[in-house]
Amino acid sequence: MPRSRTHAGPRYAVVWAVLNAELDRRGPAHVVDAGGGTGGFAVPLAQAGHRVTVVDPSPDALAALARRAAERGVADRITAHQGDADDLPGFIEPGTADVVLCHSVLEVVDDPARTLAAVAGVLRTGGCASVLVANRVAAVVARALSGHFASAQEALSGDLEPRRYDLDALSTLVTKAGLVPERWHGVRVLADLVPGAVVDVEPDAEEALVALELALAERPPYRDIATQLHVLARR
Ligand SMILES: C[S@@+](CC[C@H](N)C(=O)[O-])C[C@H]1O[C@@H](n2cnc3c(N)ncnc32)[C@H](O)[C@@H]1O
Repeated sequence: MPRSRTHAGPRYAVVWAVLNAELDRRGPAHVVDAGGGTGGFAVPLAQAGHRVTVVDPSPDALAALARRAAERGVADRITAHQGDADDLPGFIEPGTADVVLCHSVLEVVDDPARTLAAVAGVLRTGGCASVLVANRVAAVVARALSGHFASAQEALSGDLEPRRYDLDALSTLVTKAGLVPERWHGVRVLADLVPGAVVDVEPDAEEALVALELALAERPPYRDIATQLHVLARR
């Protein structure tokens, strides 16, 4: 996978590489960020020349988004609506968005199937959804590594809050929403396991870790143990 131009270090390098590849093929696009929060994705995308619509229920997050957008000089390219991702078609003309981001949101919504149906509903034919969720496997590993073995056992198959997903469950959800999963990625395969001091102290370590994350993202079994699972799914 090519190195991303716009990324926030090793944690999201893979997502940015995928988004940039998709958006580079299109030119200026209308991107919808469902649950876009404070604009960690929306603002850089606006800086890259795209028009971004953020829908998020949190007034605090939207206030932070507005400040960030103003600071970076892209307020005119971002439209923010306070609301639920399930109500996307009330804010965006159905069938018009080029790309819809749904990042770290399906863990907390009331009904993930309804949310993904709304995501699919605003996408134009040929447009794509970028869906990022927490990985159940990583929850099991993290709990075990911190000595919480019984809790790791529970995480194997129990209902968790916030929700965790595995590849099969996410694939079923995305497909039922009428989207076709195209590419799967592990996000933060190793980034969360490497001690921060190693990356901070070693020269060029961050760049090397980004390159490793990009190399591992699509390769099972590395992909499958990542902190988050990402799917690019097409309408
Ligand atoms: C973990 S943050 C992720 C923010 C952003 N998507 C990102 O990846 O940086 C979760 C966001 O989902 C928003 N959220 C919670 N429930 C939601 C819902 N029902 N519809 C849309 N967004 C929701 C929260 O307000 C918060 O901004």
